[in-house]
Amino acid sequence: MIAADTRIGAGTTAAAPPAGAPFLSIRGLTKRYGGHVANDSINLDVYPNEVLALVGDNGAGKSTFIKMISGVHRPTSGRIRIDGKDVEMHSPNDARDAGIETLHQNLSLVDVFTVQENIFMGRELQRKIGGLVPSLDHAEMRRRTEDLFEELGLPKPDMNRTVRALSGGQRQAVGIARLLLDSNVRLLIMDEPMAALGVEESRLVLELIQRLKAKGFAVLIISHNLDHVFQVADRIAILKTGRMVGAVERDEVEHDALVHTIVGGRLPDHLAHRRAENLT
Ligand SMILES: Nc1ncnc2c1ncn2[C@@H]1O[C@H](COP(=O)(O)OP(=O)(O)OP(=O)(O)O)[C@@H](O)[C@H]1O
Ligand SMILES: [Mg+2]
Repeated sequence: MIAADTRIGAGTTAAAPPAGAPFLSIRGLTKRYGGHVANDSINLDVYPNEVLALVGDNGAGKSTFIKMISGVHRPTSGRIRIDGKDVEMHSPNDARDAGIETLHQNLSLVDVFTVQENIFMGRELQRKIGGLVPSLDHAEMRRRTEDLFEELGLPKPDMNRTVRALSGGQRQAVGIARLLLDSNVRLLIMDEPMAALGVEESRLVLELIQRLKAKGFAVLIISHNLDHVFQVADRIAILKTGRMVGAVERDEVEHDALVHTIVGGRLPDHLAHRRAENLT
């Protein structure tokens, strides 16, 4: 019998990827804009219960990749598999149905609405006064909003304040809670969630990402801040001029080696087994 910790590669330089089957498998994903290849035959797996950081220089193709797996742009070619099955996504709604939600940089919040108005925007709950006249059920929306923050372990903002009055970190929390209200999310994609935040605010969002992971979500985060990446990510995938270089475990790469890989577009020799082309 083979003990779990003697599986091929465990504890060696050939360490296995996270246990279990990937939630999302990307193979040969390519996006051309006219003659320009923004993503060139990308291979990547995303596992449940992991925080995967996607890094790369400006113009490396990170946003293009995210747009394809969130249903915003159609790939030119390649395959997207969820739970081992090929899927085609024609819109963000298709991605949502497949369990993928994306938190865009602008958060899509309405500044002059309160927290709960933002959470329920477009799907307001109603009740019938006297059994006849429909009106908004503010009490129920408030209760559900508080429950949602509680359940997700998110810091609870003052529900009556407009989101304009909230800090950047709190706004992120509202943006996330909004995506996770009665949905079947399994992968949450976040594009530069700490970009405009101060040190303390960033810490809050990094903690929040860890909490989402503990709740069983997979999180794919784009960040230019490698300190944040090292703090929060289990694995790090590196893009270079439209090509996926590979995905390494956080603990097997030092800061300098990561910078080197981002710039040079090649993993160090001892991590050659992590190259994207080795994914079958
Ligand atoms: N709609 C588009 N039409 C034409 N070219 C595009 C389009 N979107 C992106 N590109 C090009 O594709 C390449 C990858 O762009 P992308 O926005 O994916 O990079 P990125 O890694 O997200 O960069 P950044 O870190 O600056 O956000 C760039 O050369 C960009 O100019
Ligand atoms: Mg981008």
